Amino acid sequence: MVTREIMGKIIAIANQKGGVGKTTTTANLGASLGQLGKNVLLVDFDPQGNLTTGFLGSAKTIIQKDVTDALTKQVPVKNTIIKTKFENVSILPAASNRLATIETEYANVEGRELLLKDILDQVKDTYDFIFIDCPPSLGMLSIQAFTSSDTVLITLQSEFYALEGLSQLLNTIDQVRRRSNPQLGIEGVLITMYDARTLLGAQVIGDVRNYFYNKVYDTIIPRNIGLAEAPSHQMPIYYYDSRSKGAIAYIELAKEVLQANGN
Ligand SMILES: Nc1ncnc2c1ncn2[C@@H]1O[C@H](COP(=O)(O)OP(=O)(O)OP(=O)(O)O)[C@@H](O)[C@H]1O
Ligand SMILES: [Mg+2]
Repeated sequence: MVTREIMGKIIAIANQKGGVGKTTTTANLGASLGQLGKNVLLVDFDPQGNLTTGFLGSAKTIIQKDVTDALTKQVPVKNTIIKTKFENVSILPAASNRLATIETEYANVEGRELLLKDILDQVKDTYDFIFIDCPPSLGMLSIQAFTSSDTVLITLQSEFYALEGLSQLLNTIDQVRRRSNPQLGIEGVLITMYDARTLLGAQVIGDVRNYFYNKVYDTIIPRNIGLAEAPSHQMPIYYYDSRSKGAIAYIELAKEVLQANGN
């Protein structure tokens, strides 16, 4: 029997700004790494549950147990993970917006920032990569995600305001480093929804590179209609249209992530 080392790396995909490509990146970077032979778990940690809808569609409504049940220890986390039909990809779904209630119900509970870490520690050794799709806020859920993670991957939409609000995100990461997770690193910065036809796009890339230097991925995700359509067919882009620019970009990104992690 061939055994190989499991990486067990946990990466939070974050930006408190809405609609900057977090969920699209979680789904498609995850599926691309699966395609490249890595065992991947995707964690839907956004009460909106977009990641779950993008994989399961209407079947989401019949899910009995989800990430909230695991967090609140109603059910062992292993019983809430669903293997998808896509190669090497499993999902820990957020099937109801009960996840939102965690913020308030646990507001004064000691150790609340460790809830997610506690459950991911139980399955970490099963996966090469675990990606956490963060919500568009810097509240308790994002703090839990950062506390659980080895690194944070920041997505930035290619637009004039791309860098606005970033200092809040970086402050939150620093705060988590000081309080509970000193090793937390920045995995990389990904520019999404890039439109090569606009001068603005090129300017944004320049600004982001000036700010983050070599933390910015060479791979830039273009604006691509397939990426927006694929979730409505419950497919990652690679399975929906493997020759699209979006599919090619996410495979390239996956290779870059592998290389940065010594593969
Ligand atoms: N590269 C792209 N090209 C075209 N459309 C895209 C691209 N990336 C994302 N989209 C679309 O833009 C919208 C926002 O993307 P996405 O849901 O990934 O962002 P998000 O950061 O997860 O949003 P939220 O903050 O609400 O969770 C979605 O409709 C998605 O399909
Ligand atoms: Mg999202």
